[in-house]
Amino acid sequence: MKISVIGCGYLGAVHAASMAELGHEVIGIDVDPAKVGALSEGRAPFFEPGLPEILVAGVQSGRLRFSTDIADAAGAAVHFVAVGTPQRAGSYAADLRFVDAAIDGLLPHLADGDLVAGKSTVPVGTAARIAERIAGSGTGAMLAWNPEFLREGFAVKDTITPDRLVYGLPPESEAAERARELLDEVYATALAAGTPLVTTDYATAELVKVSANAFLATKISFINAMAEIAEVTGADVTQLADAIGFDARIGRRFLGAGAGFGGGCLPKDIRAFTARAEELGRGESVAFLKEVDAINLRRRQRVVDLAVEALDGQPYGKRVAVLGLAFKPFSDDIRDSPALDVAVRLKGLGAEVVATDPEAIANSRRIHPQLDYVEDVSDALEGADLVVLVTEWNEYRHMDPAFAGARVKRKVVIDGRNCLDAVGWRADGWEYHGLGRP
Ligand code: UDX
Repeated sequence: MKISVIGCGYLGAVHAASMAELGHEVIGIDVDPAKVGALSEGRAPFFEPGLPEILVAGVQSGRLRFSTDIADAAGAAVHFVAVGTPQRAGSYAADLRFVDAAIDGLLPHLADGDLVAGKSTVPVGTAARIAERIAGSGTGAMLAWNPEFLREGFAVKDTITPDRLVYGLPPESEAAERARELLDEVYATALAAGTPLVTTDYATAELVKVSANAFLATKISFINAMAEIAEVTGADVTQLADAIGFDARIGRRFLGAGAGFGGGCLPKDIRAFTARAEELGRGESVAFLKEVDAINLRRRQRVVDLAVEALDGQPYGKRVAVLGLAFKPFSDDIRDSPALDVAVRLKGLGAEVVATDPEAIANSRRIHPQLDYVEDVSDALEGADLVVLVTEWNEYRHMDPAFAGARVKRKVVIDGRNCLDAVGWRADGWEYHGLGRP
């Protein structure tokens, strides 16, 4: 099947390469010539496990091409819109200018019966507005909203074998039927494997995406709120999470208390959802998401406060090894990263921060050149007065406390992700501080 993907950022690049891997003929379109150049040579512009392999395979097979010219999308039966919807400057609302530009660019190249399939995360109501524009264009094309739930670090797997598919379709009509058939053809492999499919209207499809992310964010902030209570009562939030997580209705996943959530999705999406609900006169319905956001941001400061305490209130000139910069492991993404934020705040207090990360140093250096970065974790640890672990990469989580102890000046560690074996580290003579743990 011929597919175009408009926007080759995280979502679009992974989607394009994954669709080619599934056997479709794909053209990826992006306005950034550097990105298109890299992708055309089979190089991923960001770190994502498994992506380089399928990019190279797709490009070599001739099934995967990239272009800066949106006219090259012509001839595809399905056009996925996968451009970014960042937070608008000075506001919580989503900035839809890239979505609108993608539709503007696409309209002259649409043919009768083509399907435009929206993937970007948008405020509810956007699809209906775009559908009207497409209907008004007289092209005979139609719109579906087909949200994406990929996690960074598992993006290829999540795209090729999703845990569910959602089609937001126009009201029952021939167009809706054709849209459904086209999407079924795109996702034939996943559907044949029994992937659950929810077929619904535009508004529900748009809301599925934001409400899923709002739920996940709420779950994380819930456990972080319990961590705050644990901190004043001497309870242990990790044991609490284990115990409530055994209840199948609750589940242990996303009950990891620590420095909180970041990345390009959860923080932005809950804010945009709040803004949209307010526009709709239902701000009170999701007012709790402001609390979710506030709890989340407090946890970063909690890591900083613990660090200052561990340095006897005197961070100035102290050497602090910050382990992790990416917003989560298996990613080089530093968007809204709690780890990078902690490093910057400690530096702001006068500490001599030496930060490391297996993948995210280049991105971090670009935004925060004032920090000292080292590639090797042992260089970060060398002479440190304090170790602060903020991204739970395997190499940090499984680090031998004796290895670390041989390098630092003082054996004090703050485990901002509650991922170290506290008993083992203490047994090795370390002063260990977790979050929400005695
Ligand atoms: C998220 C959603 O999971 C995905 O479905 C959606 O499509 C995009 O947004 P992603 O941003 O890649 O994906 O990361 P995710 O794995 O959800 O983690 C988000 C953040 O939450 C990370 O900063 C992570 O460290 C944090 N987190 C996660 C916790 O603090 N505790 C947890 O228990 C789980």
